[in-house]
Amino acid sequence: MAVWVIIAFWVVVGLGVLVFAMASTRRRSEERRSRVADRATTLGFTVFFLGLGVLVPTAIMFGNSDAEEKAPGGIELTAEQTNGRQLFNERCSTCHTLAASNAVGMVGPDLDKLRPPAELTVNAIEDGRARGQGQMPAGLLSGQDAEAVASYVAAVAGQ
Ligand code: HEC
Repeated sequence: MAVWVIIAFWVVVGLGVLVFAMASTRRRSEERRSRVADRATTLGFTVFFLGLGVLVPTAIMFGNSDAEEKAPGGIELTAEQTNGRQLFNERCSTCHTLAASNAVGMVGPDLDKLRPPAELTVNAIEDGRARGQGQMPAGLLSGQDAEAVASYVAAVAGQ
């Protein structure tokens, strides 16, 4: 949004310079007209291109730093889920498949297929799992960390 406002501003400045140059063509004597018009045009275009060359990229950079984190597929993540994604990469990706994290672990179930609700994931993390299809150790994470991962998995699994 901000980028378009700035671009529109500089387009208006550029048009303003053009109108000014044309207006002064009509009003002044031959000699003066061309000099004033030339200078105004040069100045105008310098300002115009400086604006495009400096302000627009700056605005885009700031715009991007404000943007929310996005997982593949354009899912917006909260700060907690972004933290959860980091933790998932560190603690879970070796054993589980999850496309949004490029995880392809085969020890535990494919989380994209399972699509576990957050409570199930928190429970699996705290208690571990050993129901016969391999083992997931208990207490891999705790408290807020476990919840952050669970919230992340619930948001992206199967997407
Ligand atoms: C050492 C390998 C390993 C790691 C690391 C691991 N898991 Fe698991 N996970 C498993 C296995 C194996 C199972 C299935 C166990 C069973 O069938 O009893 C499982 C099961 C699950 C389940 C399904 C639970 C259910 O009741 O169906 C979820 C959800 C899960 N893991 C999430 C995670 C998360 C989140 C992490 C990271 C904090 C993680 N796992 C780390 C191996 C792992």
